Amino acid sequence: MRTPFKSGIPSSEITSESAWLKRRQLMTAVAGGALVGSALASALVSPGASALAAGQSLRHRPATANSPAGFYTTESLTPYEDVKRYNNFYEFGTDKGDPARHAHKMSIDPWSVRVDGAVDKPGVLNLEDILTGFDLEERVYRLRCVEAWSMVVPWMGFPLSDLLKRFQPTSKAKYVQFYTLLDREHMRGQRSFTSSIDWPYVEGLRMDEAMNPLTLMAVGLYGKPMPNQNGAPIRLVVPWKYGFKSIKSIFRIRLTQRRPKTSWELIAPQEYGFYANVNPQVDHPRWSQKTERRLPSTLFSPNRRDTLMFNGYGEQVAHLYKGMDLTRDY
Ligand code: MTE
Repeated sequence: MRTPFKSGIPSSEITSESAWLKRRQLMTAVAGGALVGSALASALVSPGASALAAGQSLRHRPATANSPAGFYTTESLTPYEDVKRYNNFYEFGTDKGDPARHAHKMSIDPWSVRVDGAVDKPGVLNLEDILTGFDLEERVYRLRCVEAWSMVVPWMGFPLSDLLKRFQPTSKAKYVQFYTLLDREHMRGQRSFTSSIDWPYVEGLRMDEAMNPLTLMAVGLYGKPMPNQNGAPIRLVVPWKYGFKSIKSIFRIRLTQRRPKTSWELIAPQEYGFYANVNPQVDHPRWSQKTERRLPSTLFSPNRRDTLMFNGYGEQVAHLYKGMDLTRDY
């Protein structure tokens, strides 16, 4: 049997971004005063490619306890350093530390995302359009990897629906297909002879999943531009699905009438389905999905917890799968 996902190594405790946390505590304290929150956030720099280069904070609306249900959680955040150094980004290697080691070789400026297929207005968004053309907001989401580890990450981005609407999907648009950059020169994993992935990495969503308010196009985390290893400059985050659906460094978005194939489904369809909804009742053929290891996690303090149906987002998304057999459509 193939082993597409390597098992993870324990992550050690690392100090989190204390300045960011202080700001977040302040935001939570003033959760009743949205105006105060937005004034504080506005004091940060305006979005733009120069901010990306400088690694500065981007202006965004913070998530608070008053945000819509599902957009925020009071669970402890996974420290910034862990989020940046424990990654799956097979374009840079299969070891959890490879993306942090090698992803700086990928150039993200200039960058553009082509949107085409079943849309009335196909076109291209360049990096500046992406960073200045959308209202950025924070979402604090759980990320559950199919390998049974998880994180809590404060992402920054905008709903995918905001992007798709601009290109005016036609009635033929039933699915959305996403492509990661293909760049063999700078992505060493794409040159590897042992890789089972047929590059570029591709993913897909059904149109109603894509339009769900939880589905985020993320351009940063912890208030800062997206680190390359986490999928700069723009990635998908679909919090109720296994992490492999959250495709990184998106280069093209195509709306289609037929269900697109996805990278992991192509490699091992009996292990990784198109839907990939987090589901503790459907085990992976080679391991249990009933529990997960929340990072930071060590050998002596594994921080294990029960996995929740739809990763705890059932209230927001269970209706999308009404009448479906999720043991068959996994
Ligand atoms: N996107 C691309 N292009 N290549 C990848 O290898 N790995 C996926 C997903 N997106 C992957 C990807 C998997 S398996 C997971 S769990 C998440 O990214 C991990 O995101 P993180 O490294 O930011 O935690």
